Amino acid sequence: MDDQMTSQNFISQKREGCVKIRKSPSFPLYQKATKGGFGSVLTALLILSGPAVAFAASGDNAFTPTNIFVPLSTPAHAIYQISLLVLLICAAIFVIVGGLLAYSIFRFRRRPEHENLEPPQVYGSNQIELAWTVIPILIVIVITLATTRTIYDVQGALPPPGTVNVTVVGHQWWWEIRYPDLGIVTANELHVPVTESGNRRPTFLKLESADVAHSFWVPQLAGKTDLIPNRRNQMWIEPTQPGTYVGNCAEYCGLQHARMLLRVVAHAPNDFQNWVAAQKQPPVDDPQLRAGRDAFFSTSCINCHVIKGTRANGQFGPDLTHLMSRETIGAGVVPNTAENLRAWVRDPQHIKPGALMPNMQLSDAELDQVVVYLASLK
Ligand code: CUA
Repeated sequence: MDDQMTSQNFISQKREGCVKIRKSPSFPLYQKATKGGFGSVLTALLILSGPAVAFAASGDNAFTPTNIFVPLSTPAHAIYQISLLVLLICAAIFVIVGGLLAYSIFRFRRRPEHENLEPPQVYGSNQIELAWTVIPILIVIVITLATTRTIYDVQGALPPPGTVNVTVVGHQWWWEIRYPDLGIVTANELHVPVTESGNRRPTFLKLESADVAHSFWVPQLAGKTDLIPNRRNQMWIEPTQPGTYVGNCAEYCGLQHARMLLRVVAHAPNDFQNWVAAQKQPPVDDPQLRAGRDAFFSTSCINCHVIKGTRANGQFGPDLTHLMSRETIGAGVVPNTAENLRAWVRDPQHIKPGALMPNMQLSDAELDQVVVYLASLK
């Protein structure tokens, strides 16, 4: 992992001259958002509007990861189809109404020969009034029925055999991901199997919140569903192609809402089994890393984090048992390299202002030891 992350793919840059933070090109959202200027405003507007279809068609991969018009999962497909129907109906209404308006403006514009003439005075027409009442009602009925069917198909789906069950808990500002049947706990990166023809492997998610309302949204996989305190919502995803799908919290939840990123990694069935097996391993306990381990266990880190099989059993922060198997730190804020990890432990507030992890005020020597130990948790 380290070797990949420190390759020349990454652009290193200094921030305010103190801590070096590396960003990777695999963070298109973050990079696009930080470029600034008119270009990115225009890009945002384009993405928010219909022409996102054009981006999908042009194959610009930088834009597809969060594009609802490139669905790669069963519920996302159903939503995509209903959106096309609604967009098509709205486009037809727009063309007809706009066309009639343009025609009327041109055809009935003021002309010199009309000076001092009063236009014909029409007081109502039963046919026209019936038409513009009945047609919209029919359109609304069609959209209502089609939408109801999609909602029923998506929300009423029952988990088939082979379903993976996951509980996702929203926190300010990260995602806790639990596999109750597999005994795995991880954070921010949801690993699931793909559905292949004849072998359905959807993942059903139970959504909870530890603090405020959040919303789980990975546009290529499904619609958004809120995570609400004291309530358990449900949704499901069923990716059909291996790959990493990115998403974000879609409900304003405080200072770092915009940097509460999600990654869903869809594996071929065998790769998923390998991932499960690796996550079930006990944490690495290398005798050569004793000093680092002791340094870590002497801090109050253990009051907030779990490292399975040790006395680190805090429930407040992410489980660190296999920390280095994750691609990012801070819910997608920076790539998970030893260097970024050091910057993060030294002062999380510098990388993610408002994050609830405090600056532990470790000395440089302690910091080195703690990071050596953390970086061993593969
Ligand atoms: Cu969590 Cu917005």
